[in-house]
Amino acid sequence: MLYKLLVKPLLSLFPPESSTGVLLRMLKGARRIPLVAPLIRAGHSVKGKSLEREVFGVRFSGPVGVAAGLDRSGEFADLFSDFGFSFIEIGSLTPLPQDGEARPRVFTLPRDTALVSRTGNPNKGVQQAISELSRRDRSRSRIRIGVNITAGIRSVTEEAIISDYRTAFAQMYDFADYFVVNLTDTRHPDQGLQADSSLMSDVLDELLEMRLVYDGYKPVLLKVSSDLNPGLLDSVLDYALLSGIDGIVAGGPAGRSVTLNTSAQRLYEIGEGGISGAPAFQGMLETVRHIAARSKGRLPIVACGGILSPKDAQMALEAGASLVEMYSAIWYKGPKIAKKTYDHILHLHDR
Ligand SMILES: Cc1cc2nc3c(=O)[nH]c(=O)nc-3n(C[C@H](O)[C@H](O)[C@H](O)COP(=O)(O)O)c2cc1C
Repeated sequence: MLYKLLVKPLLSLFPPESSTGVLLRMLKGARRIPLVAPLIRAGHSVKGKSLEREVFGVRFSGPVGVAAGLDRSGEFADLFSDFGFSFIEIGSLTPLPQDGEARPRVFTLPRDTALVSRTGNPNKGVQQAISELSRRDRSRSRIRIGVNITAGIRSVTEEAIISDYRTAFAQMYDFADYFVVNLTDTRHPDQGLQADSSLMSDVLDELLEMRLVYDGYKPVLLKVSSDLNPGLLDSVLDYALLSGIDGIVAGGPAGRSVTLNTSAQRLYEIGEGGISGAPAFQGMLETVRHIAARSKGRLPIVACGGILSPKDAQMALEAGASLVEMYSAIWYKGPKIAKKTYDHILHLHDR
């Protein structure tokens, strides 16, 4: 209620990317004031055995997490933990810092409860993430850290792309509970490296081989877009099943084929970009169902795309997902969405 009445109208006065950053920084600053973090935790903690789960060998205190792109270096991981999120996908990270596309590059579509983004993966590189994550007192927070890695914008040859994934994977290995390999192109969700399946298997084979020599097994997941054509999706899934990939993050932003309430004029003014939020939900749900059926439940699924309410989360879990991630819901509904979702799941369980 507080978020809807006070925080959101204030946020709407500024471009979404800046206002989200300012709000997260303010909340992070407030956490340093004695009693603030415990108070947030007290207001958002939900405990229940039926929420806990082990997925791809990692124990999660609940099935709701933060999607990639909101906290690229992991600096807000403990803040999200206070709000009840049980995992966060940090990144997408590239080995070196990069600025991404020119601003503005994130837009709101309120009539569709959606966001349009064409960020080009701006991030401060793996060293910044390492310094943020090293400062954390891991014993005080149960939040799991998924590290989403991708290739730098200037890496265009196959050799350079593979080298970026290798570097990010090696340097982040000790800081990740699991990895997500992001081969999607958020600007054109139907394209990206997934359209080049030989490059996809070259990248993943390298990482799975590297993992053999490291201490401690870190699950490697692949993020796949709902906009992949069905034949390509099936070949990606067959490869994932054969290669030893530990799971799939399914969904992501939708392409422009979705039907929107926003005027064509406004969409034209905004220009290119993937569409997150409500319009991504149906495609995500169908992809989750398809993956669950094709893999006969052998590939754990993290559903991501248009999950804006506890009921949406329930539908994604019933469709075959083991975990759900949110980005747009945090923008449109506020961080209380994790607690609300847990309350809903517990209520269903107790019925
Ligand atoms: C502004 C913005 C930036 C994003 N950045 C990334 C990113 O760096 N890496 C990534 O894998 N996904 C990124 N995403 C996609 C989200 O992780 C998520 O897949 C997508 O927003 C769909 O979920 P939602 O409908 O809950 O927002 C971004 C999305 C938005 C809106």
